[in-house]
Order: sequence, then structure tokens, then C-alpha cells
Amino acid sequence: MRKVVAIDGPAGSGKGTVAKILAKNCNLVYIDTGAMYRAIAYATLNNNIALDEKDKIVELAKKSKIDFIDGKTYLNGIDVSTEIRTMEVTKIVSQISSIVKLREILVGLQQKMAESHDVIMEGRDITTVVLPNANFKFYLDATEEERAKRRFKENQEKGIESTYEEVLENIQKRDYNDMHKEVGSLTRCEDAIYIDSTNLTIDEVVKKIQKIIEV
Ligand code: DC
Repeated sequence: MRKVVAIDGPAGSGKGTVAKILAKNCNLVYIDTGAMYRAIAYATLNNNIALDEKDKIVELAKKSKIDFIDGKTYLNGIDVSTEIRTMEVTKIVSQISSIVKLREILVGLQQKMAESHDVIMEGRDITTVVLPNANFKFYLDATEEERAKRRFKENQEKGIESTYEEVLENIQKRDYNDMHKEVGSLTRCEDAIYIDSTNLTIDEVVKKIQKIIEV
């Protein structure tokens, strides 16, 4: 039987870290849909396109090729894994991801990626829009302070400049934008298993999910 695992949750809820480990443990292809929106945000900045030039951003997305190889994100053949995590990109990505036509393009690509492989895909609208018929659906959550703490620590480890206050403010803004999008907003769907990871270690969350998907 095909295995399709969908995980949604807000920024910093741990879904990326957990999905990566589960992909290895359970032999699934890991698809980070946030990285796809980030790649387009990065390309928008690189091409000096303003955020209100939505048609240009959509055209840019149509011409862009996004691939995931060995845990890295490639944009038109170039590894942009580090560049898409900068605060510059993080600050604009939510706005970029609100462009309805851009979402249509990326959702189509994501659905195609899940057609031919056993996948674990994470994002904001995976359980609701991209893969509503996934065999396993999860919603991962944590308090905003805990999520900001995690992202700040991650930035420090990666050498990305930021302050805790800046990260918390960005998380609050992104939560608001992500939950109030016209299309593809972050919503907790009824048939997704809810996991609050605030007081859980990564390993504990992985074990919880693995027990469910390894049937
Ligand atoms: O998961 P992340 O923080 O890397 O996601 C980056 C942004 O992309 C985030 O602000 C929400 C948006 N996003 C989205 O709208 N839909 C998805 N499926 C994944 C991410």
C-alpha cells in the first residue's frame, strides 16, 4: 500500500525536523513545501521584484525549477538551502505565499511529487488542500514562545543573525498571515491527529508519529 503522510503546523512547531527523521526511519521521500515558497521568495528578492508585482512573481515561479536532492533545496539547479533561511527571506515569505496563483502552481507541483513516491510532506495546507486523502494526517503545534525559542536557537546554530524578540515578532506575524490567507490558510482539520510538542522532545514526537504510521 502507498504511504502518504501529511503534516501541518505553524512555524517552529518542529514539523520539519520531525519529518526529516521520519523520512529516514520509514523510508519516505521528504518534501518541505515551505522551502518551495522560500525559494520563490528568494528569487523575488534576487530579481529585484517588488512584493506587489504579483504577476511578475507568478511568472517567475512558472519559469523556476525546484528540486529536493539529498536533503538540499535546488532552485534552477543551484543549491539555495542556506540562502532561503535568511531573515530577509523569512520576513517576506508569508506575503509571497499569499499569492493565490502562485499557490496553484506550487500545490500542483507538490501533488505531482506525491503521485509516484511514498512521501512525508509538511507545510500549512497539506492535510487540507494538497493531500486531503493522505493515509496519515497530523497537526503539530507548540506555544509561540517555545517556537520562537527553537527558531532562535536554530538561527544561532546556523550563524543566522537575529534576536529572540525579532524571531518572536516574525513568528506572531507569520502565524497571523498563515491563518488568515484567502487560500491555503493554516487550519487544523478534524481528521488530523493533534500533537502539542511544547513539552516533548523531538525524539518523543518522532516515536509518537512513527508508532502510528508504521502499521
Ligand atoms: O515552514 P516554513 O516556515 O519554511 O514556511 C515558509 C512560509 O511559507 C510560511 O510563512 C508559510 C508558507 N507556507 C505556506 O503558505 N504553505 C505551505 N504549504 C508551506 C509554507
